[in-house]
Amino acid sequence: MAREHLIIFDTTMRDGEQSPGASMTKEEKIRIGRQLERMRVDVIEAGFPAASDGDFAAVQAVARTVKDSTVCGLARANENDVRRCGEAVRGAASPRVHTFIATSPIHMEKKLRMEPSQVIDQAVRAVKWAREYTDNVEFSPEDAGRSDIDFLCRIIEQVIKAGATTINVPDTVGYTLPEAFGGLIRTLRERVPNSDKVIWSVHCHNDLGLAVANSLSAVLNGARQVECTINGLGERAGNAALEEIVMAVRTRQDMFPCETRIDTTQIVPASRLVSGVTGFPVQPNKAIVGANAFAHESGIHQDGVLKSRDTYEIMRAQDVGWNANKLVLGKLSGRNAFKTRLSELGIVIESEEALNAAFKRFKDLADKKHEIFDEDLQAIISESEHDEVINEHFRLVSLLAHSETGVLPFARLVMTDAGREMRAESAGSGPVDASFKAIENVAKSGAELLLYSVNSITTGTDAQGEVTVRLSKGGRIVNGQGADTDIVVASAKAYIDALNKLQSKLERVNPQV
Ligand code: KIV
Ligand code: ZN
Repeated sequence: MAREHLIIFDTTMRDGEQSPGASMTKEEKIRIGRQLERMRVDVIEAGFPAASDGDFAAVQAVARTVKDSTVCGLARANENDVRRCGEAVRGAASPRVHTFIATSPIHMEKKLRMEPSQVIDQAVRAVKWAREYTDNVEFSPEDAGRSDIDFLCRIIEQVIKAGATTINVPDTVGYTLPEAFGGLIRTLRERVPNSDKVIWSVHCHNDLGLAVANSLSAVLNGARQVECTINGLGERAGNAALEEIVMAVRTRQDMFPCETRIDTTQIVPASRLVSGVTGFPVQPNKAIVGANAFAHESGIHQDGVLKSRDTYEIMRAQDVGWNANKLVLGKLSGRNAFKTRLSELGIVIESEEALNAAFKRFKDLADKKHEIFDEDLQAIISESEHDEVINEHFRLVSLLAHSETGVLPFARLVMTDAGREMRAESAGSGPVDASFKAIENVAKSGAELLLYSVNSITTGTDAQGEVTVRLSKGGRIVNGQGADTDIVVASAKAYIDALNKLQSKLERVNPQV
């Protein structure tokens, strides 16, 4: 018997972006969108277009870039939000508008200050506005996990009549338990008279650590779309982790009557990309994508695995994209080989000028590092994209950082400030601290440093360090990235990248604000 299709709806760029500090630029959303498409995600929720002009532009750009996945935007159930969303996704090969309104007594009374009948009217209107833009419309009764079942049945029946094609049931505050949540989906499917006209979807938050369990219980009870995020990113404790949902369904095909179309070998690259862009590290023991997820330490386990892998391994590391580090290029590789490998990775560089700049970066790196892996190429491209799109106000020209036992570390640098060359130096508690202080002597941003993190892009002591710096100023929070084989230089680049983002005039307000 043919298995049913389980739709994977990724909301890393919308709910994930609602994690404080995880705000993404348009270019970052395009990169993540491309990776999700490569992974064969069915639906990509790219943002909340009415939240800001910046997010409108980001959703529109993802909609125009992605061809093989549906691109969706989120809208509250009001005319302005829905129309902004409709406009933003209009250019997609397959657009979707996702509109929502709260249905729990506590939300209706205290947040919306609306009567239940008004909430139904508003939801119906929103779905009809959305249908003016696309026939692919999703409706969510927010806080469904704490809503009255009779009311849920009434509102859902009405929005289906109005034209909703997917009904998404959110456990907005992560309150429900697996059995009850599965039961809720079953009951809704049984009681809503027109329930067979739509796809049933779930969206679970992880406040009690149950987001994945609740989602899977819903799938066992008939849900055929799961909303999830890479690395479980999302509001508060996050959303259901995409990698866990996909691998649970795939590994336990004996239990699930459905399957996804995800290319699981793209999971680890996607996890790394999202972690790098947001600066949210992945804990080592995180299922599927944590560094230790496939590492066997105890003698008994190692012995068993050596005799037969399946004694202790239920999945193969390479199936989710581990050990995919391929030695692809070296110092002697030419421009053609470079371009070919990029296109194998799904990276297309349109202009000759941009290709030349990226190729120069590759050659510079190959001079310092013999083996260039796919991850190095991704970092090169990300840096080149930054240079192309961010109208850089500050640019690092050169940096000397000194550290020696018993001597106060100091840094001396040259950078440009709106094209003007400036020199600065500073002492600090270490070379990174000294470099940041020297940069501040020029930039005088007064921004607060919220996060500094370093990850090695590949293995080995000659690996590139990828640094994330999170700065906050005047209510805005931005993440800057830098990569280099010298982590002090990578740190300075990341700090300057964050300063440039603070300078950028594009309004990027976190959707929560
Ligand atoms: O958690 C939630 O309820 C949401 C909805 C907008 C789907 O994110
Ligand atoms: Zn949510």
